[in-house]
Amino acid sequence: MGKKNARWIVDIGMVILLPLLMAYSLIGEAFHEIVGTVMLALFLIHLVQNRKWLIAIPKGRYNARRIFQTVLDLLLLVFMILQPITGILMSKHLYTFITSSISRCRSPPPATGTWSMAIRPRK
Ligand code: HEM
Repeated sequence: MGKKNARWIVDIGMVILLPLLMAYSLIGEAFHEIVGTVMLALFLIHLVQNRKWLIAIPKGRYNARRIFQTVLDLLLLVFMILQPITGILMSKHLYTFITSSISRCRSPPPATGTWSMAIRPRK
């Protein structure tokens, strides 16, 4: 499989999983946690596949458009990492071995979910 195909498969996978994750209350908690875990894996692969973009951040000149897009992408990156971490901390199914030792908090995943939706439509 070529690198381009591998990137394409990961990207399409994330496009399919995102609406499923946003439909949290429709798909059920346990399924959400499984899909969210797959999404996290795909996102980490996506970061490795596109590491050149990260490496290029300090390079070159910044015009208004590049500043805007880079800030949006970095916000998205932060949310895409916080989302599964806060989700795992609140897990009731897959990660109970973690949550059983920590008191359960509410609200970070919905908050980050809403904000990552707000900044997502870009291209
Ligand atoms: C990038 C991956 C993920 C995305 C985009 C995502 C998205 C969301 C969204 C949008 C909600 C809010 C549902 C609502 O209140 O209407 C939510 C809630 C939740 N998510 Fe995720 N999620 C992800 C990963 C995970 C993972 C990996 C887990 C756990 C293993 C998880 C566990 C939860 C839990 C427990 C809630 C309920 C929060 C509450 O009770 O208020 N999520 N998630």
